[in-house]
Amino acid sequence: MIVLRELSKSYDGGRSFAVREVSLEVAEGETLVLLGSSGSGKTTLLKMINRLVERSSGTIQVDGRDVLQQDVVALRRSIGYVFQRVGLFAHMTVEENVTIGLRLLGVSEEERRLRARELLELVELPAPAYARRYPSELSGGQAQRVGVARALATEPKYLLMDEPFGALDEVTRESLRSALKGLRRRLKKTIVFVTHDIFEALNLGDRIAVMHEGRIEQLGSGEALLKRPATPFVERLFRKPAELLGA
Ligand SMILES: Nc1ncnc2c1ncn2[C@@H]1O[C@H](COP(=O)(O)OP(=O)(O)O)[C@@H](O)[C@H]1O
Ligand SMILES: [Mg+2]
Repeated sequence: MIVLRELSKSYDGGRSFAVREVSLEVAEGETLVLLGSSGSGKTTLLKMINRLVERSSGTIQVDGRDVLQQDVVALRRSIGYVFQRVGLFAHMTVEENVTIGLRLLGVSEEERRLRARELLELVELPAPAYARRYPSELSGGQAQRVGVARALATEPKYLLMDEPFGALDEVTRESLRSALKGLRRRLKKTIVFVTHDIFEALNLGDRIAVMHEGRIEQLGSGEALLKRPATPFVERLFRKPAELLGA
């Protein structure tokens, strides 16, 4: 479980806040979506969870312990992270990219190869065809799948995904979304998924937290947000989807 209490982040010593007093809990096995426009604080919030960004105030607990009290290497091993821009290493093959975390842990080459095969299978990129390729030889959607496989390599309990399908066309996004749903069913991960796409949020989120100017405007199921928006901002945001979905 991930528990955030009154979490805030200022990058300028308290003059302005990227994240303001956010409190929320992500239950075991849940997919929580952070939905908000660019600049609303989604990436900052996500990065504070695995300490890629240090908080200004408030608390973050992962598995019942404050992240400040956990060894940062062990913490990041328990949390897979999929970056907003894929961030594959261009000079490494797909297999090397997927298993870099395992190499850092001292896992043998043979075992890494086996693991890469499984992980690539999981994201529907058969190893015989893809393991030896370089990132420049992949489509955008394939590169994102490699990013997901890499995040899963150390068998983390948690997955943080920052607009993982953001830069892709709608057909590819849809295919990746359904792949993610399949993975989620099989692997039972606890996921925090960031997007600015309302339909993606409704499609993937067990619950959705709507972010605006660093705050959470409303947190609830898709249905609750569609039918019972709590603020004018949420009402405006969901008006069109509500019409389209007949909610
Ligand atoms: N490293 C940084 N230094 C200073 N300001 C930052 C930094 N990262 C993000 N910000 C600012 O914090 C706010 C939230 O940014 P971000 O968390 O990236 O939002 P989002 O992911 O929702 O687009 C923005 O105003 C952004 O300019
Ligand atoms: Mg972002």
